Amino acid sequence: IPSPAQGVGPIYRPDGEKPTATVSKEVSYENVHVLPQTPQLIALLTMIRDQRTARADFIFYSNRIIRLLVEEGLNHLPVVEQSVTTPVGRAYLGVKFEGKICGVSIMRAGEAMEQGLRDCCRSVRIGKILIQRDEETCMPKLFYDKLPADIADRWVLLLDPMFATGGSATLAVEVLKEKGVPEHRILFLNLIASPSGVAEFAERFPKLRVVTAFVDQGLDDKKYIIPGLGDFGDRYYTL
Ligand code: URA
Repeated sequence: IPSPAQGVGPIYRPDGEKPTATVSKEVSYENVHVLPQTPQLIALLTMIRDQRTARADFIFYSNRIIRLLVEEGLNHLPVVEQSVTTPVGRAYLGVKFEGKICGVSIMRAGEAMEQGLRDCCRSVRIGKILIQRDEETCMPKLFYDKLPADIADRWVLLLDPMFATGGSATLAVEVLKEKGVPEHRILFLNLIASPSGVAEFAERFPKLRVVTAFVDQGLDDKKYIIPGLGDFGDRYYTL
């Protein structure tokens, strides 16, 4: 099934005046949240998908999408009522965040999302997990992890930009669960997801939340997301 194309723009603009763009596939899992397909998001994604985009621009525009993902991810953390008094002596009833958080990046590409989290959550703790393919079994294998000692008491924002087969993310979630983090306290943030990755993950971990900017067409025979953007880590760090 091809990805849907739709007029992109504010609701009050007539359809005939909106440019058509390919938007995210819709997903019907209650625990998967796709960012609103706004002109801004689609323009940022168009920049990072373009093979001609140079590394400096790739970093800049990826960082802007990461910021949107982090801001949306934070909306899924619990808040409690908080009443304050303003400088003119009036009361305002608002909310404040409740609970401790930490980031966990799946190396190496997930590390690109750390700064976006730090920009929103000052001095946030960040752990790391290194997962690579086992040459003998071809299965994802845990090579290294360094996580906050009290991670079981925290909400965890798991960071990996490309959600392809979901092999690494699945193993990362198993590691977090072994350390005592309940599934419902894990939020997985990614830029582009494959439909099969999302579907398998959402069913396997029904209490975990996925926040993604875009659910793409599928995977090619090398397990790259299509149309995708190529190798995120290479484009962000080395190309
Ligand atoms: N990782 C990437 O960097 N790109 C893909 O398309 C899939 C996994």
